[in-house]
Amino acid sequence: MTWKIREIEIDNPVVLAPMAGVCNAAFRTIVKEMGTGLIYAEMVSDKAVVYQNKKTLDMLYVDPAERPLSMQIFGADKETFVEAAKYVDANCDCDIIDINMGCPVPKVTKNEAGARLLLEPDKIYDIVASVVDVCKKPVTVKMRTGWDKEHIYAVENALKIEQAGASAIAVHGRTRSQMYEGKADWGIIKDVKDAIKTIPVIGNGDINSPEFAKKVLEESGVDGIMIGRAALGNPWLMKQIVHYLKTDELIAEPSAEEKLRLAVDHMDRLIDLKCEKVALLEMRSHMAWYIKGLDGATHVKRMVTTVKTREEMMDIINRYQAYLNGDKSARLVVE
Ligand SMILES: Cc1cc2nc3c(=O)[nH]c(=O)nc-3n(C[C@H](O)[C@H](O)[C@H](O)COP(=O)(O)O)c2cc1C
Repeated sequence: MTWKIREIEIDNPVVLAPMAGVCNAAFRTIVKEMGTGLIYAEMVSDKAVVYQNKKTLDMLYVDPAERPLSMQIFGADKETFVEAAKYVDANCDCDIIDINMGCPVPKVTKNEAGARLLLEPDKIYDIVASVVDVCKKPVTVKMRTGWDKEHIYAVENALKIEQAGASAIAVHGRTRSQMYEGKADWGIIKDVKDAIKTIPVIGNGDINSPEFAKKVLEESGVDGIMIGRAALGNPWLMKQIVHYLKTDELIAEPSAEEKLRLAVDHMDRLIDLKCEKVALLEMRSHMAWYIKGLDGATHVKRMVTTVKTREEMMDIINRYQAYLNGDKSARLVVE
């Protein structure tokens, strides 16, 4: 199951998608411990790197345990992309530098960045070739299939990216205008895989089970399968997929207790990485994802929306665990 992005060896096809606000070293090391082959970090702004914004430079931290790791940069101008990539290449312990050409949010696309670039194959070529030129590390691109259904240039753009010297391409099977609506089009991802002969292609979109992962991997022939939303609060999915691809066996779902234990571990890694205040703000969403579908989760989600300290979060988690264990006196209300 091993494959390579240039000289970087990757143990299996399972890849964690870059997710802004989520894929920091705390979450990434957890996902890596689940056996994930390749991890993408959340995107950083090229301009913020060039202007040496402290918060952005902190985001370039890589724990040796999570490698191989891809650090993703978003931007619009060739000059700032090049400067930022040079800095990341020399100062960040990542293995791969990824260029974001898929981000659909208006804050990014209104500045000609993210998915906006998909309308301009020549600009894509120019940016990728210029970044490849200044980096020692392999450079890859993550893109959507196109801007909207009238402007799907997936194959054309992918060929430009390959010709420009990129070392891999990841394709999210949606257009920019779809945002996260509708289904990812794995037919277009297969078209890209069939057209690209010299570098690996990673397919992305809607993978949420080991069976679906295996199906799209086999049907499209891609080298890697990238998983985003389904790993939120459920990093075990990566382990389940890796195991299923190797053995055709399904691993049992984690128990509620395991989920809560990992949530605490995640919170502690976040506190170490950031500070308690920021960690707890981020943990509000993670908690909601970890407990999704469990008995009483709706109440607990409401309870965590205001937590500010580890102590408050632990109190809620302990009460919730008692409730799940059948303790009728455990109160799942905001007190
Ligand atoms: C919260 C969130 C943040 C995201 N941030 C990024 C990002 O920083 N860079 C990027 O290329 N894609 C980003 N994406 C898109 C994902 O990488 C992925 O392409 C998309 O979620 C589709 O995969 P999925 O169906 O497995 O979730 C983000 C998605 C989500 C849900």
